Amino acid sequence: MVGGARLAGEVRVDGAKNSVLKLMAAALLAEGRTTLREVPHILDVEIMGELLRRLGCEVEHNERERILVIDVPSKPSHQADYDLVRKMRASICVLGPLVARCGEADIALPGGDAIGSRGLDMHVAGLERLGASVAVEHGFLIATAPHGLTGTQIRLDFPSVGATENLLMASVLATGSTVIDNAAREPEIGDLCRMLVGMGALIDGIGSSTLEIEGVEALRPVDHTVVADRIVAGTWAVGAVMTQGDVIVRNAVASHLDIALDKLTSAGASVEVLDDGFRVVMNQRPTAVDIVTLPFPGFPTDLQPQFIALNAIADGSALVTENLFEARFRFVSELQRLGADVRIDGHHAMVRGRAELSGAPVEATDVRAGAGLVLAGLVADGVTTVTEVHHVDRGYAHFVENLQVLGADIRRVG
Ligand code: EPU
Repeated sequence: MVGGARLAGEVRVDGAKNSVLKLMAAALLAEGRTTLREVPHILDVEIMGELLRRLGCEVEHNERERILVIDVPSKPSHQADYDLVRKMRASICVLGPLVARCGEADIALPGGDAIGSRGLDMHVAGLERLGASVAVEHGFLIATAPHGLTGTQIRLDFPSVGATENLLMASVLATGSTVIDNAAREPEIGDLCRMLVGMGALIDGIGSSTLEIEGVEALRPVDHTVVADRIVAGTWAVGAVMTQGDVIVRNAVASHLDIALDKLTSAGASVEVLDDGFRVVMNQRPTAVDIVTLPFPGFPTDLQPQFIALNAIADGSALVTENLFEARFRFVSELQRLGADVRIDGHHAMVRGRAELSGAPVEATDVRAGAGLVLAGLVADGVTTVTEVHHVDRGYAHFVENLQVLGADIRRVG
């Protein structure tokens, strides 16, 4: 890409990656055809589709219409192999539904990934509380509950998104009632709860940090529309601010991005909330803004790299604190290749804004790092080449095409 263009125009956001993957797993809880709408055309959806096929489901994705249909057999198989799990750590979200539905789940351990160690201790402890036996054998996490799960009280040490989702999906078919305390409150969890309720689950406290689930004997398939991707929407907003542009983001929920949009206002942008999204207009060089990532409703870690990119060209200095994933600053060394002035100390990054970055070849290390590097390239002087863009394809549908529509000088090569 060649930096310098101002992003202007309209862009539409699809359903959220971090919701749809869990909703696809949740479909396993009921025999028959579940329909998901607003499903994005991204690599992770394909990987999850392949995983469900291996479990015996039929999966059809109409990419143009953004509709995904999953036909779940009466007896799905229960093993998720390493070749798929290593491609996508989120495969672990089939653990809860499979134990609940089949009485057993054998999931290959995902291993480390590019953004940190990402343990599974809370997933395991919660399943054990629900009555499952969990062991690790030959690289597989094996959870069994031959006589079903039993409702219980679970208090999470930390509001983990993945653990909340797995335990929620496990408990909807348990005998009796389950309370999950200190549950994560991300909008994607609310979306999962709404889908489960549509399937016949009984859940109280949706959107709060205490979820109360009354187990039911069986669930039915559902037709559900995936919540909009707040991280993709937020990425467009940051892009508008960095390029001093004017972008309308449609099909987005501004209230899911309260803190991030507030930060952009502090950076000098004007943000207007619309019925079906928001508009971000910026007419000056942004002012640096401090960021602290936290579980929702705190500032999302998935927008941290994009905000480091913003601060790299802002007026002033900013302190960025990462509390979720220890290795999420790995991409900073790539940003430094574009001339960014960033100093890392543990989980803090001190970013000193520069008037200009300068284009260079850089490598995407994960999906959000890739997005951050592309945004930086849009404002860097000269040509920037981002390699390993398959990471970006995991979470951003038609990213390059959308950027072109907004006026960026960018193309995909190879
Ligand atoms: N953690 C544990 N033990 C557990 C579970 C989590 O120590 O049993 C730790 C993790 O190691 C991590 C922190 O808790 O340090 C947060 O983990 P969490 O479980 O909340 O995150 P996740 O479910 O693994 C999801 C998203 C991430 C997003 C985080 C936080 C999906 C597929 N992934 O991960 O998305 O950053 O929640 O919001 O939903 C991305 O899209 O780029 C991405 C990484």
